[in-house]
Amino acid sequence: MKVLLVVAHPRQESLTHAVMKRFVAGLQQNHHEVDILDLHKDGFNPVYSVEDERDWNSPNKQYAPEIRAEMDRVAAADALVFVFPLWWYSVPSMLKGYLDKVWNIGLLQEFPSKTVQWLVLAGGDQEHLLKYGYEPMITHYLNVAIAGYARLLESKVEFFYDTLSKSNEYITGLLDHAYELGQAYR
Ligand SMILES: Cc1cc2nc3c(=O)[nH]c(=O)nc-3n(C[C@H](O)[C@H](O)[C@H](O)COP(=O)(O)O)c2cc1C
Repeated sequence: MKVLLVVAHPRQESLTHAVMKRFVAGLQQNHHEVDILDLHKDGFNPVYSVEDERDWNSPNKQYAPEIRAEMDRVAAADALVFVFPLWWYSVPSMLKGYLDKVWNIGLLQEFPSKTVQWLVLAGGDQEHLLKYGYEPMITHYLNVAIAGYARLLESKVEFFYDTLSKSNEYITGLLDHAYELGQAYR
């Protein structure tokens, strides 16, 4: 399977990047082909300009070359994976900018054959995310409001909780889980 993996975190030594690398190692172990888009390192500009918005709902819209190139990467993939930290119980603005600019009417006919997996790193523990209804809110937002609206074939959300833990053992467990998820990826 050809997987387009999009990572959104400004710090290369972040846990988000470590989780992403372990997940990719698992994918490669399972002989999947991976195309990595590191939004910060690769200099993606998330600001939605006047030109980006103009004719946004027209099938004849002319996209900027850099957006067209990202749309082509999505079209070439069988599956999409997003790895990011939970910021204000939402996606980081960099990732939101990517979705605003790249997931658009020009890609609508590509989505029904593709799957998406969201790997979400949360500072809070699961009890906290459930207590305030954040976990179902975020899951619904990603699976229904984004992937469902775009008509993707399947959407799954995986949370990595308690990411600020000082326990090396716990963090190693998160990284091992990322590897296993990549290895089991279908
Ligand atoms: C701007 C900002 C907003 C955050 N908002 C949340 C939040 O809403 N819920 C949460 O559980 N953690 C939140 N956190 C904590 C991050 O999720 C946490 O720092 C991250 O998962 C740790 O992994 P990292 O080393 O990859 O950043 C926030 C952190 C930052 C910097």
